[in-house]
Amino acid sequence: MDSSALGFSFVILVIILFHNLPCTLSNPALLSCDSVFECGNVKAKFPFWGENRGEPCGHPSLKLTCDRVSNKTSLNISNILFNVLHMDNTLKTLKLVRQDYSLSFCSVKSFTETKFPTKLFEQSLDYKNLIVFSDCDPHFHYLENFTCSEGGIGSVYHSGNYYRLCRTISKVVVPAGFVPEKEAWNIENVLKKGIEVKLKINERPCQKCLKTGGFCSFDKSATQFCCNTVLLQGRLFFLSK
Ligand SMILES: *[C@@H]1O[C@H](CO)[C@@H](O)[C@H](O)[C@H]1NC(C)=O
Ligand SMILES: *[C@@H]1O[C@H](CO)[C@@H](O)[C@H](O)[C@H]1NC(C)=O
Ligand SMILES: *[C@@H]1O[C@H](CO)[C@@H](O)[C@H](O)[C@H]1NC(C)=O
Repeated sequence: MDSSALGFSFVILVIILFHNLPCTLSNPALLSCDSVFECGNVKAKFPFWGENRGEPCGHPSLKLTCDRVSNKTSLNISNILFNVLHMDNTLKTLKLVRQDYSLSFCSVKSFTETKFPTKLFEQSLDYKNLIVFSDCDPHFHYLENFTCSEGGIGSVYHSGNYYRLCRTISKVVVPAGFVPEKEAWNIENVLKKGIEVKLKINERPCQKCLKTGGFCSFDKSATQFCCNTVLLQGRLFFLSK
């Protein structure tokens, strides 16, 4: 084979390599994928992105935001904003609290149920769902009631009548050991303590990828994990020339 034919096949090979990549990225943000997100007590890497970590560096749904004034980390899950109270990078757990609970649970007007996408998160068996009412008609009597911090009566579900007597109905997640008969009065504080969830993303492919000098990411539709070795191949290509 003469040298020009060799050069031609080399170009073909490179093109094939680039085309076969599961997620070809031309974004320079890729370069920041080995940086760590740091905000208050939260430190995060893959599968998270946000702030100093570019979008290709994590799962599209796992964007962290840092409030540089309060050093609070937030995460938008299915359109609900959570504060990340704690992140355990070994156990892959997150302690999350809904931002709209941080003032008064009863002031949450348009209620949305706390639901974690099952593809990404696993909710611990240490929690259970509870139906809670607030803004209840003060002329009636409610078992397992509580007084909202901003005033008004609320109650944990006890009777179907509550649907008629109370204006706000919420489905909340509380520790499995929560006993409404004893603790209903304290429900706002219980909710402010947050709940723990576990990340379901398998870390092994990423660890393998890092060893080969690649960057972990997801394809745009977030259906598959990608190991990006674009930079590595780019360097090889350059050296070969
Ligand atoms: C936030 O974090 C920065 C950097 O660690 C620190 O200098 C600052 O005092 C913190 N602010 C608060 C309100 O904790
Ligand atoms: C959460 O993210 C979605 C898009 O991913 C956006 O449309 C929505 O406004 C965000 N919600 C909040 C409360 O920031
Ligand atoms: C709330 O519960 C307590 C104790 O069960 C009861 O004494 C009180 O009357 C209840 N308040 C209302 C408004 O139902």
